[in-house]
Amino acid sequence: MPFHRPGPGVPPTIGYEDRVEETGRVERVEETAAAYGELVRGRRVARSFDPDRPVGAAVLRDLVDLASRAPSAGAAQGWSFLVLRRPEDVAAYWAATAGDGPPDRWLAGMRTAPALVVAWSHEQAYRARYALPDKASGTHAPPDPATRWPVPYWHVDTGMAVALLLLGAEAHGLGACPFAVPTARVAALRTAFDVPADAVPVMVVALGTPAPHPSGPPTTPRPSRRRALDDVLSDGRHGRPLPPASPGG
Ligand SMILES: Cc1cc2nc3c(=O)[nH]c(=O)nc-3n(C[C@H](O)[C@H](O)[C@H](O)COP(=O)(O)O)c2cc1C
Repeated sequence: MPFHRPGPGVPPTIGYEDRVEETGRVERVEETAAAYGELVRGRRVARSFDPDRPVGAAVLRDLVDLASRAPSAGAAQGWSFLVLRRPEDVAAYWAATAGDGPPDRWLAGMRTAPALVVAWSHEQAYRARYALPDKASGTHAPPDPATRWPVPYWHVDTGMAVALLLLGAEAHGLGACPFAVPTARVAALRTAFDVPADAVPVMVVALGTPAPHPSGPPTTPRPSRRRALDDVLSDGRHGRPLPPASPGG
């Protein structure tokens, strides 16, 4: 298959034969796949951090840049990321969202994170994008606007962006933990950081250098709760297993 050049500045896609011939490139693909697999499989949340090792502004910029490469419905990109990296800003986050009284074990660990990233979704970006002619008319326009989005794409897309941010953190050697803002605290959070009323905090990511929990290891180590691949993977029919690769495909 010949190279297909989609346009100036866009790298060519290559066919299988070309890949086989371009041995060096195939090796690179395999190396990239192995490194990516290691990165993804090695990621686990961190729930306590070294408070004296801040996360630099350049790394935080890179993480949000990676997050903003996520796919989004209609390319609406209805997300924003509030980075809290100064001690007074991190303290203001906890003041707005945590209850009074002594922190429990979880909160004591999370409060050691030197940086937080709050990921907000913006429904209005999708309403504006889907009102444009290419979305509002033609075969893809549903007759009932209420059925336009089978699920709230603004939350879905923001979640995908956070996944990229988490993998970026892993690549930078950082620990990270996503967590939710308590519903009752969302208004206070918006007020504390001048966030518009229609933005919804989908998740917060605590970031930093992982460290043992201040009060020591958990008393009972938890087993891995990762579901088996064959429990989540179907081949052609729901519930039918996909056999491992065998000769002939
Ligand atoms: C939307 C969302 C909310 C989460 N909320 C919390 C939370 O409140 N507290 C927490 O410790 N972890 C939270 N987590 C992290 C999960 O507990 C963690 O991802 C899960 O146990 C699997 O562990 P792993 O990510 O290390 O594989 C959350 C994750 C997501 C995606």
